[in-house]
Amino acid sequence: MHDFSAGIIGTGKYIPGKVITNHDLEKMVDTSDEWIIKRTGIKKRHILEDGIPSYKMGIKAAEQAISDAGINPEDIDLIITTTEAPDYLSPSMACLIQKGINAKNAAAFDLNAACTGFVYAMVVAQKFIESGYYRYVLIVSNEGLSRVVDWKSRNTCVLFGDAAGAVVLGKVDRQFGIKESYLASFGDLGHNLTIPCCYISDEEKNKRSENMERTIWQDGSEVFTFAVRSMTDATRIILDKAGISVKDMDYLIPHQANLRIINGAAKRLEISDEQIGVILHETGNISSASIPVVLDIFSKNGKFKNGNTLIFVAFGGGLTCGSLRFLWGK
Ligand code: COA
Repeated sequence: MHDFSAGIIGTGKYIPGKVITNHDLEKMVDTSDEWIIKRTGIKKRHILEDGIPSYKMGIKAAEQAISDAGINPEDIDLIITTTEAPDYLSPSMACLIQKGINAKNAAAFDLNAACTGFVYAMVVAQKFIESGYYRYVLIVSNEGLSRVVDWKSRNTCVLFGDAAGAVVLGKVDRQFGIKESYLASFGDLGHNLTIPCCYISDEEKNKRSENMERTIWQDGSEVFTFAVRSMTDATRIILDKAGISVKDMDYLIPHQANLRIINGAAKRLEISDEQIGVILHETGNISSASIPVVLDIFSKNGKFKNGNTLIFVAFGGGLTCGSLRFLWGK
């Protein structure tokens, strides 16, 4: 048992200024504001301007998180970037961000667990810090999903948005920080949500329109069913591991893909609306950036009190899911 835990000592976010509302989408595809709100809860999403690389969002979020932590970029030992839409396969997004923030002493790599990426990265960072290998780890969840969306497909374009969220992890008092965690993957279900990269099969080609081969395709209802089940199970697993009940939890911070998914899991778990941190009506699905962006907003507007019990839970491509219990405080 350590005399410290790995915990969050700084947060940051960047949400691009350009907004696409549901009414804007009505002019682009056969959809309606009413349908999108009723079926997803999303009202608008923010999109990166053309010509700006996505990692620039990550730099801004990282700079805020480092300043919030009260440390310098040179103090960072490791940068983990989670992303589903990297600007390059090489250099990694993490190396591009390293250069941008001048974290010259950091090792850096990308981690891909799709929308579950932030939860995976938290557990990886925890292991590095609790083993004493590294002191400060920066996680940047950098998602420019608008770059891999087919803006003519109403099945996907209404759902996604762009944003980056960042946290700095370091040693905190043992009573705070990361506690129990659970990570899982279901590769046999991976075909339900795909974004081809260096190879595309004929089957995947046929699912997409011409010249849209590198875009997101999903079986919405299969992913929906998986999402409600996995978010419910992953939350229950953490509550059981911790030996606590839903009433002992102050906030559930879920990945935000569709309000009906969040509400479906909350109903099964008997979690009240006030216990859930939701921003997706403003952002759409921003993949692995969902949880760190909520953390930044909620911590800076004073919602979290020292010792609050938070549960992070996410699901996504792979398919993957994960959860962890986090006790807020430095
Ligand atoms: N606007 C208007 N109508 C739409 C539409 C849109 N954007 N998209 C689909 N429809 C139509 C369908 O064609 C269908 O019409 P029909 O009844 O005449 O055949 C009807 O709406 C219902 O379609 P369905 O696919 O059953 O809707 P849904 O309630 O399942 O919602 C999703 C679709 C994609 C929003 C939902 O399945 C979902 O959120 N899935 C999970 C996706 C996800 O989370 N992905 C990211 C993982 S990290």
